[in-house]
Amino acid sequence: MAISLTGIRPTGTPHLGNYLGMFRPALRLAHDHEALCFIADLHALIDVRDPEALRARTREMAAVWLACGLDPARAALYRQSDVLEICEVTWLLGCVAAKGVLNRAHAYKAAVAANRDAGRDPDAGVSAGLYGYPLLMAADILAPGADVVPVGRDQGQHVEIARELARAFNGAYGEVLRMPEALVDPTVMTVPGLDGRKMSKSYGNVIPLLAEPDELQRCVMRIVTDSRRPEEPKDPDTDTVFGLYREFAPEGDARAMRARYEAGGLGYGEAKAALFEVLDEYVREPRARYRALMADPGELDRVLAAGGARVRERAAATVDRMRSAVGIAA
Ligand code: TRP
Repeated sequence: MAISLTGIRPTGTPHLGNYLGMFRPALRLAHDHEALCFIADLHALIDVRDPEALRARTREMAAVWLACGLDPARAALYRQSDVLEICEVTWLLGCVAAKGVLNRAHAYKAAVAANRDAGRDPDAGVSAGLYGYPLLMAADILAPGADVVPVGRDQGQHVEIARELARAFNGAYGEVLRMPEALVDPTVMTVPGLDGRKMSKSYGNVIPLLAEPDELQRCVMRIVTDSRRPEEPKDPDTDTVFGLYREFAPEGDARAMRARYEAGGLGYGEAKAALFEVLDEYVREPRARYRALMADPGELDRVLAAGGARVRERAAATVDRMRSAVGIAA
């Protein structure tokens, strides 16, 4: 079975944008792939300096994966940091990586551009970890030998870099690494946030995925709409409320809602109430499962340990091949 791989950094409470962009596509792939799902805690170290917070967020993220339906009997759920081989692969890849490839990575370029604009040294505040982010991510992908990596548009370049590094390594040493493919799902639109811009923690416009009903309702009521009155026809394709509704409602309901938007006679208040109903229903079970998991740390630990062990086996086989290819194995 082909292997799919998804990593999520443990950065705070996941929101609907994370769910639609990452969790849901990964869990769908799990139906016909061997799904490897991990929490990228090594990547988080680039900007998290609070050990307790990192530990807590990592556990939360693991619980969210399981709450959203990851079946640990089939898919592997693991902490990146438990697979020590990833660090070794990072170094081995770094030795065949052109430095220029890292210079061109979006996140690094954005940091440099911000420094230039502010008149600072171009590398001010840029850690070697941030600079090396694409190497570590390539190791995440290449160590277990992933075939497909579902990504949003922002991560496409990273998968491209992983491919480039696999090519460089294989070019130097023979066919050692499996070539991964990025899987960009065209049906995953940019998920709109409360203010209509892309839902993102940095814009402060998110709807938390596992919010309690009252918080969820408050969020939904705060969604910004245009000022059309109830009787006027509305454009479902530019409206945030409908944009979210259609992702979570059964298809027939979404079609009916679209028709009501276009016909006029539906107020935004009513549309928001419908969205709240659908979301609340959708997350009811995951919310309860999440609470139960967070109350039972032993179960989380067992799942993570088992997932880590499974993936280490794969990664260790890759490392063996890489070591002997480069000449550091016995
Ligand atoms: N960089 C990804 C993000 O910020 C997280 C990630 C780390 C990842 N390693 C990965 C995603 C490997 C896919 C495959 O969202």
